[in-house]
Amino acid sequence: MTQLTMTVNGKTVSGDAEGRTLLSTFLRDTLGLTGTHIGCDTSQCGACVVHVDGEAIKSCTMLALEADGSNVATIEGQANEDGSLNVIQQAFQDHHGLQCGFCTPGMVMSAAALLKENPKPTEAEVRAYLEGNICRCTGYHNIVKAIMAASGQDVAIAAE
Ligand code: FES
Ligand code: FES
Repeated sequence: MTQLTMTVNGKTVSGDAEGRTLLSTFLRDTLGLTGTHIGCDTSQCGACVVHVDGEAIKSCTMLALEADGSNVATIEGQANEDGSLNVIQQAFQDHHGLQCGFCTPGMVMSAAALLKENPKPTEAEVRAYLEGNICRCTGYHNIVKAIMAASGQDVAIAAE
């Protein structure tokens, strides 16, 4: 076991990890941050997306050891300081961008990364960016609407 220290959602945290421990497992089982979901074992679903040093990554594709000393952001740190939903979370609620909610943490974290690097994406750019995030429920239209709305753009999406 190795003791790791990292900043998670603005707080310095420490915990022990084996060399094989994935960051997703470390966040959930060691730090108790179960908002990061694990939906596959093939690195396909995107339910586990977090930000490491500002980059969106699938936390099941990174060893916890590799994140030692990093700055990690998870869904638990996304709300506004007063506890209200941030603009992306609110848009998901307003535009019915979730049903069961299993994919939602990863979707929100991916959307946050997209809007940081491209504040006014086109619908096609949103869809392309979400290529690594699978949703079994919504058919994606309302997720795209939500992200377009969070970017302050019209939410007219052609197909339903
Ligand atoms: S749990 Fe990481 S991509 Fe599915
Ligand atoms: S809302 Fe159920 S998987 Fe996306």
